[in-house]
Amino acid sequence: MLQFFEKNPDASLHFDCIEQDQNAVNYAQELCKNFLPNITFHVKNALRFQSTTKYDLIWSAGLFDYFDDKVFVHLLKKLGSMLEGGGEIVIGNFSTMNPSKSYMEVFEWHLHHRSPNTLKYLAKSAGFTNITIGKEPEGVNLFLHIV
Ligand SMILES: C[S@@+](CC[C@H](N)C(=O)[O-])C[C@H]1O[C@@H](n2cnc3c(N)ncnc32)[C@H](O)[C@@H]1O
Repeated sequence: MLQFFEKNPDASLHFDCIEQDQNAVNYAQELCKNFLPNITFHVKNALRFQSTTKYDLIWSAGLFDYFDDKVFVHLLKKLGSMLEGGGEIVIGNFSTMNPSKSYMEVFEWHLHHRSPNTLKYLAKSAGFTNITIGKEPEGVNLFLHIV
């Protein structure tokens, strides 16, 4: 968001952000202090978040890989109910190709690593059909795109 608003300071977009950790929200608010009229922070469990707003873009990074497949599909369906027609959902998830997985687990950072096929399967299970998989340049983090 910060990078977006720095490049597009006159954009008339509004973001709703959901994060359960007040300290993380405080940090984000400080980073984005010049753009706060365009951002609403909700200190909330994402699983309990519900809005009547229909969003053009729903973006989640660093969250769904904490969830098992059942919770993944449940939240994805719920997010779909908050998506504007023609809108897009983007879900980040660590790839099974993550070379640091074992190292992370030494420090008790246990995540559900997923392959492109698993992400597609879970998106289909949530009722979606227009599904593509992207990744960042190193291929460690995958991005499930649903339109
Ligand atoms: C790996 S960090 C990702 C942070 C950020 N989204 C990013 O991509 O840099 C995971 C964040 O998810 C938050 N989190 C975990 N479970 C959550 C939940 N059920 N609802 C809301 N936030 C959650 C944690 O507090 C933490 O700040």
